[in-house]
Amino acid sequence: MDREYFYSIMNGEGTLDYELYLNTRALLSCQKPFQDYVNRDELQFQIVHQVEEMWMKLINYTLLDIDDFLQQENTNRVVTLFRRVHIALRMMTEQLDLLETMSPKEYQEIRLKLGNGSGQESPGFRVMLKIPPFLWQSFQEHYLTKRGLTIEKIYDSQYSHDDSYLVAECLAEFDECFQKFRSAHMQLIHRTIGLGARSLKGRSVEMLREGMRIQFFPELWQIRNEMTDRWGGQYGVVRDALGGH
Ligand code: HEM
Repeated sequence: MDREYFYSIMNGEGTLDYELYLNTRALLSCQKPFQDYVNRDELQFQIVHQVEEMWMKLINYTLLDIDDFLQQENTNRVVTLFRRVHIALRMMTEQLDLLETMSPKEYQEIRLKLGNGSGQESPGFRVMLKIPPFLWQSFQEHYLTKRGLTIEKIYDSQYSHDDSYLVAECLAEFDECFQKFRSAHMQLIHRTIGLGARSLKGRSVEMLREGMRIQFFPELWQIRNEMTDRWGGQYGVVRDALGGH
């Protein structure tokens, strides 16, 4: 097959309405020219990172909308938009798997071309880390304080599966999806470069482990602990057998 020919037509002309609307000329020029790739895995490496940035842009934009709707107490909108965010976060996590089709050697070759670049510099990720405290503030103000509720009440003593509970579970799911992304990313590093590599020891791995321990909404996890202790203070210590003996 004439590789050069296909390379030359892959980006299209950029003049049809579809291409104009999606700005394919710019979009498909965001990757290095084919001849500059260090190996045949590098296009994938670059595209996966770029796509992840796009999803983070959508997630962050949607989280800002969610904050508006939290303040308007429009629960239907909040729940639907959180669903969008959760799906996008799950896709971000699944898409990391693509990079496991790259051999460790091919990654080492690419790595030499990354300069000092690091995921820590990701604009989308940095913004995603900043937004959750604002969501929590809006949730507290509009779904708890204003309604005379607390996390304890909506989960246990006054549990009624109401709007406040629904929104709280959306927040918990966001936290969980985020953690799953972080742990899949850790697994990817394990698979690709190894977690015991000298260049990663200390700061990098510690920083990643620290990130995996972070919860955006610790109160929503703490209530589970408290309920288990309260409901089953004796459970595991003294328990009646189901058969009564
Ligand atoms: C083979 C692929 C990958 C490898 C080997 C890798 C490796 C690493 C390493 C070693 C770090 C620690 C910081 C550092 O030393 O620079 C890191 C951080 C990070 N990487 Fe990756 N990464 C990969 C793919 C990705 C992808 C596809 C994303 C997409 C978003 C990503 C996002 C991040 C983020 C956001 C951080 C900062 C983590 C935090 O603050 O918790 N990485 N990565």
